[in-house]
Amino acid sequence: MEKYIEEILYSEADIKREVKRIGKEITRDYKGKTPILVGLLKGSVPFMAELIKYIKTDVQIDFMKVSSYCGAHSSGSVRIVSDTTTSLKDRDVVIVEDIVDTGLTLSEVIKLIKAKGAASIAICTLCDKPEARLYPAADPKYIGFNIPDKFIVGFGLDYNELYRNLPYIGVLKKEVYSD
Ligand code: IMP
Repeated sequence: MEKYIEEILYSEADIKREVKRIGKEITRDYKGKTPILVGLLKGSVPFMAELIKYIKTDVQIDFMKVSSYCGAHSSGSVRIVSDTTTSLKDRDVVIVEDIVDTGLTLSEVIKLIKAKGAASIAICTLCDKPEARLYPAADPKYIGFNIPDKFIVGFGLDYNELYRNLPYIGVLKKEVYSD
């Protein structure tokens, strides 16, 4: 598996350090409140599991599944595949995502969560690709790493459903997705 990785960008220790920092930021910003973290499946799962360990206020979690990239390029449309089971009405929602690229996925999810009557919505992402942004509504408040415009995998991020189990974040060799 690792022969497909061109370069390790962030080690397990780097990830832990930055996730801990985000946990502290969320704890500070939501003091006295009970935010609900809504993870987007499947990529956010390792990030969500790590993040909640460092949030020191009452917090709830739920998940949503939306259709996303097919391979390494945007399909240009987003579909809700599975919704949260918790009501988001009047809730302080923190959307937890693995990576924000163009922002298309999140801009659609934000619309849906707004329509459910959330009191507030913030975006928390492990990785951000600000250079690729086409939908500024999806700009995250909490960011683990700023990523160059390269295709990355690991710690939840996949290519064709593989490599989510890598404990680090690495750049996928171009030859894997260009043929
Ligand atoms: P967006 O809608 O363009 O912001 O794309 C967000 C989704 O694209 C993420 O949830 C990922 O599933 C996928 N994605 C974008 N860039 C990468 C990457 O570098 N590696 C793995 N998945 C990516």
